[in-house]
Amino acid sequence: MDLSKKTEELLNKQIKIEAEASQTYLAMACWASNNSFEGFAKFLYHHAEEEREHMFKIINYMNDRYADVIIPELSKPERKFGSVLEVFQKAMDSERAVTKSILDINSHCQELGDEFTATLMDWFIEEQLEEEVLMQKMLKKIEAYSKSELGIYILDKQVKKMELK
Ligand code: FEO
Repeated sequence: MDLSKKTEELLNKQIKIEAEASQTYLAMACWASNNSFEGFAKFLYHHAEEEREHMFKIINYMNDRYADVIIPELSKPERKFGSVLEVFQKAMDSERAVTKSILDINSHCQELGDEFTATLMDWFIEEQLEEEVLMQKMLKKIEAYSKSELGIYILDKQVKKMELK
């Protein structure tokens, strides 16, 4: 069974969302690095890679289904931030928007009875839950450590030691 045109359109849109998320995390990582936050930079570079893997996961699935993959033009990510807290607040907002988009694709697949794409979306839903929980935990810590100027550098050192998966 071929993918429906609408599913193809939604998956192509998701490829762009994941690719732009990757670019956004890269820009955030560069900002962190330029501001001597090595731990946060490492965390954000790692996340940029993860988003790229998500993009490939959809590309590979579409290619397996002989669908028409469109490699998108990307918008330029924001690269100036006022603080680590602002970076992670924006990262949290971005993850929530990604989750909404994944849930929309999942609902569409359920309605259509497209079990294959729905199964792919199940993987993404689990992944998004993990990412939102991780981001929420980071945000809580950053909010607490941002109360003193030195605190955020102490947290940065801890983040540098974090095992990233
Ligand atoms: Fe691929 Fe963090 O969403």
